[in-house]
Amino acid sequence: MTMTFPAIGKPSADQMAVKPNLDYEKTHGNFQWAEMYAELDWLPGGWLNKAHEAIDRHANGSRRDKVAMIWEGKNGEQETYTFGQMKTLTNRFANVLKSLGIQKGDRVFLFMDRLPELYIAFFGILKVGAIAGPLFSAFGPDPVKDRLQDSGAKVLITQPDLRRRITGIIPELFELEHIVVVNKDDRDPQPRDPADLDYVEEMAKASADFDIVETSQFDYSIMHYTSGTTGKPKGAVHRHQAAVQHYATGKWVLDLHEDDIYWCTADPGWVTGTSYGMMAPWTNGVTQLIYEGGFRASAWYEMIQKHKVTVWYTAPTAIRMLMRAGDEVPKRYDLSSLRYMNSVGEPLNPEAVVWGVTVFGMPFHDNWWQTETGAILCANYPGMEVRPGSMGRPIPGIELGIVDDDYQQVGPDVDGNLVVRPGWPSMFHTYWNNTEMYNSKFRGGWYVTGDRARVDKDGYFWFQGRADDVINTAGHLVGPFEVESALIEHPAVAEAGVIGKPDPIAMEVVKAFVALNEGFEATTELRNEITRFSREKLSAAIAPREIEFVSSLPKTRSGKIMRRLLKARELGLPEGDTSGLEEE
Ligand code: PRX
Repeated sequence: MTMTFPAIGKPSADQMAVKPNLDYEKTHGNFQWAEMYAELDWLPGGWLNKAHEAIDRHANGSRRDKVAMIWEGKNGEQETYTFGQMKTLTNRFANVLKSLGIQKGDRVFLFMDRLPELYIAFFGILKVGAIAGPLFSAFGPDPVKDRLQDSGAKVLITQPDLRRRITGIIPELFELEHIVVVNKDDRDPQPRDPADLDYVEEMAKASADFDIVETSQFDYSIMHYTSGTTGKPKGAVHRHQAAVQHYATGKWVLDLHEDDIYWCTADPGWVTGTSYGMMAPWTNGVTQLIYEGGFRASAWYEMIQKHKVTVWYTAPTAIRMLMRAGDEVPKRYDLSSLRYMNSVGEPLNPEAVVWGVTVFGMPFHDNWWQTETGAILCANYPGMEVRPGSMGRPIPGIELGIVDDDYQQVGPDVDGNLVVRPGWPSMFHTYWNNTEMYNSKFRGGWYVTGDRARVDKDGYFWFQGRADDVINTAGHLVGPFEVESALIEHPAVAEAGVIGKPDPIAMEVVKAFVALNEGFEATTELRNEITRFSREKLSAAIAPREIEFVSSLPKTRSGKIMRRLLKARELGLPEGDTSGLEEE
């Protein structure tokens, strides 16, 4: 077939300024993807915008009156929005941002629960050409401050209770110009800070017409912070181009069809909640359910029954929690609407796959990707034999490899580093303000994922673990450094070392070893106080679940805490040759 490749818009000056070395793109172009690119609704002039692909193209066509979003609030409220309504509302919000002086490339952050306004604001941000940065609403002030400072966000959209939580950090956000507060249905009775803007008032003033700012496929659209072993979390930046892979994987992997009701349980504060809780269903024109409430087995089954969910995308910790709630609970609900189930974020144990067959009559299909990859790269996709415990095979157009520490490929069934051939459409394009770290991820012609895995002779990939100290707790990556930094701010703490401790439900929980300053006693009260302190600063999702007092921490000669040794001791494993840990 002839390949139609749309004209490419020019990168913005802003983007040129931070453009990392992209030589590999010249040798590994996106030619495999050309067919899928042609299915996008490119704007006149060759421009591309995620908001147009997800919302406007449907609103301008036959899906105008089709429901895009069914929203169920935590108090049982229900709202629905058609693609046509989403277009108007996102236009209005784009106009609000424009009136605040927001321009292409500016960062606009969201710190909200899963309210419809989060989704409306998100696409309004993209329409004005700005970069959207959604933050997990359980975060305490420290993670919010780090992310807003690093990104230099100009506008923050939030809600009254979360606004109060971060009042103390606002004076330290020198680039923040406006705070827009969404007081959904006047749920919050307290008066707003007069310096803040009210979402409803601003929306009422804004026009419903907006011409999407010209963005090229290479312009930045979204950033998500992700944790590494050292330093603060880094902002992985994505481009409008990623839409093609969200669209393709929505079709190929999630098996989305026109009449589906799709439910992704992930929060948009994490990448799954934007790539698959916004982009994949909506680029495919599919209706999706957004549930504001948290996890409760009966509430989740009720969502499936009530909204007749057909395709479900969730995570191993949630599946294990459903398993723990027992097989009797789902029997009380009519779950016959379900047609296809997927899982991501952590290893999906074979028992969970098999449990899916017993309870729902179908397996969970595991797939693999990362914040940096932007979209699914490896999957048990429809029509393929599911091998419980395997994360499947690479999707079309993706080359995965298993390499040794010299980046040489190893044979089948041998453990090694999981790597990806760079150049896939949804690949991150930099870490904000950290090109050096970005470039360090590309070695020997590969993008190095930081995961260890093996591949069998049939091309199925099997996850083995992380190659670094990053902790995966309930699907959330936690950098030990971030937790250690928060702990040592407590006056009693001299030093802290943080590891992931294996856990049957959450895969790992965060465990801290703490050495106290002189004059402090290792009491239960102090342990509780440090726990409270770290939860308030960070969030219960990141703060240590367990704190153990120790007299000192093992360190290398250069003074680095030997986390791997702490972990070996915790697990009762041989401590081995500790000299090898020097360069950890
Ligand atoms: O270690 C892998 C694990 O989660 C990491 C990516 O986390 P994050 O950047 O937060 O992205 C979340 C979007 C999926 C991976 O490096 N991981 C992800 N999926 C799987 C997995 N581990 C095992 N099996 C999976 N299917």
